[in-house]
Amino acid sequence: MSAYGENEDQGKSWNEKTGRSWAEHDQEMNSRLQNISDILFAEIDEKSLSNALDIGCGAGATSLRMAQKLSGRGAVTGIDISDALLTLAREKASAVDNMTFTWADAQSHRFEPAGFDGAFSRFGVMFFADPDKAFANLRSALVPGSKLVFVCWAPLQDNPFFLEPMEVVHKHTDAAIKMPGIAPGPLAFSDRDYLSGILRRAGYRTADITTRKTTLDTHQNPQEDAALLMKIGAGARMLSESEPSKAQVQSVRDDFVLLSAAKRHGDITRYPATIHLVTAVA
Ligand SMILES: C[S@@+](CC[C@H](N)C(=O)[O-])C[C@H]1O[C@@H](n2cnc3c(N)ncnc32)[C@H](O)[C@@H]1O
Repeated sequence: MSAYGENEDQGKSWNEKTGRSWAEHDQEMNSRLQNISDILFAEIDEKSLSNALDIGCGAGATSLRMAQKLSGRGAVTGIDISDALLTLAREKASAVDNMTFTWADAQSHRFEPAGFDGAFSRFGVMFFADPDKAFANLRSALVPGSKLVFVCWAPLQDNPFFLEPMEVVHKHTDAAIKMPGIAPGPLAFSDRDYLSGILRRAGYRTADITTRKTTLDTHQNPQEDAALLMKIGAGARMLSESEPSKAQVQSVRDDFVLLSAAKRHGDITRYPATIHLVTAVA
């Protein structure tokens, strides 16, 4: 079995186009996701941790933050299906002695049973082909009674960073806006009832899901922000799948600049965002 395990499609995507875009825009994405990282870390009781797992850790920003918190008394392991992103994560780890990474599919990877006393994730758990199996596998990697804490996106209509670029692409290409549903992808867990059913069936003792409003902020100007929207997110995916003409690409880019400019507050571009913050006890 390859490192893609039981998630061949996502493995390919995160090692090819999608993963490369995330690696290229790592800094810009981390600044946009800073408020959400703060919400996630405020929920984690670091004092109870000595060996933590970062699921779908990508290029390692949250692993590094946890490694700094556990410095001198604990360690963090990041697991990800994308070697492209882990290459960047390993560069960040070169001067850090309590952070390591595993290239594997978190759904099927054979973790040491009860090897971690806590797990967390920033948007790295919504891509499993079989979420029931993946969350049961992750539970088996946790000491019974310890916590899995993660954030995932709330519904599309509450997240203009996803929805508004899709509307622009629809306007210029006539590609239809498809509701994301529960297929593996960023919005797969937006339905709280669906998510709590997965965690219940996976055997977690309790699962607490709260919905939080926040913002995605960037100091990038509208042209720079539009360049990112052309590469990452639901609008970018929809545009690439629509096989657009050069003129359509230019029209979309121009409207992305306008969309972004409308979200400018002083020197910050700010998108309202809504997430689910989840704490499950193994
Ligand atoms: C939206 S990115 C988030 C990355 C990182 N947590 C962050 O916040 O920057 C989703 C991550 O999940 C990873 N991923 C997707 N499916 C996975 C799987 N089956 N096992 C492990 N990682 C997976 C992707 O490679 C990607 O790095």
